[in-house]
Amino acid sequence: MDIIEAIEHRISCRAFTDEAITDDTLAQIQQKINEINEQTGLHFQLYGPRENGTALDLSKSMFASDPLYYAALAAQDDAISKEKLGYYGEQLVLFITQLGLETCWVAGTYDHETVRVELAEGEVLHDVIPIGYAPEKMPLKQRTIRKGLRKRDKKLSDLWQAYIPFDQAPEWVQACIEAAQKGPSAINGQPYVFTQDSADAPIRAGLSHTRSGLVYTDLGIAKCHFEIVACACGMKGSWEWGVGGAFVVEE
Ligand SMILES: Cc1cc2nc3c(=O)[nH]c(=O)nc-3n(C[C@H](O)[C@H](O)[C@H](O)COP(=O)(O)O)c2cc1C
Repeated sequence: MDIIEAIEHRISCRAFTDEAITDDTLAQIQQKINEINEQTGLHFQLYGPRENGTALDLSKSMFASDPLYYAALAAQDDAISKEKLGYYGEQLVLFITQLGLETCWVAGTYDHETVRVELAEGEVLHDVIPIGYAPEKMPLKQRTIRKGLRKRDKKLSDLWQAYIPFDQAPEWVQACIEAAQKGPSAINGQPYVFTQDSADAPIRAGLSHTRSGLVYTDLGIAKCHFEIVACACGMKGSWEWGVGGAFVVEE
């Protein structure tokens, strides 16, 4: 699976089988985590089964079963750290998806008594990412929850505020915004907005509100998906950090 296919394939997985993950696959995930931590100062960690065989207890209201592994995503508690955690956390999610495994971003709906994490001074555990194989048939709980949440999808034209309407934006821009919307966001809030003031101004990524700290993580995830598809469309570039940060296309 290439990374574009991973964007298409990924959904929040809410049930996990007890199929073991091979040592080789776990080593690849651990190596990716090490690379991210070294490059960014984020503090991602991989945890495996406890004595009862699963890695942590997810809330029964949102999940049909618990995973064998999870990644703990810890970082400092400021807006830029949360955004970076979204951007690099989603790179990790897509990497794990490419390995044939399933994931879910989880900020709140797990038993915090059962979570393991190491925190350095000032760090907070922002999210956990359960990791495992999905059952062949998607359980009703997962289908129902996803349908309910994805009903809230915004119109693509609402995610683009620019000098031209969405349907007149360049094809690559439309593809990037579609890819951002395919990404996860807390309660599927899709709080990110892409803007462009004029044809020669850069595209910027902002937020429609900042009522919850989770929106900064959502912004980082949206930037990640946008950038991957831009590159696939021949518009290789990178984002400035922060709300209103510009997408700088390589010359
Ligand atoms: C930062 C973040 C936090 C999330 N927290 C939770 C959570 O606590 N519990 C949960 O069930 N889903 C959580 N989600 C998953 C979202 O509900 C899900 O991504 C969204 O509804 C879109 O559905 P999809 O991922 O299946 O495309 C979270 C997603 C993100 C990005």
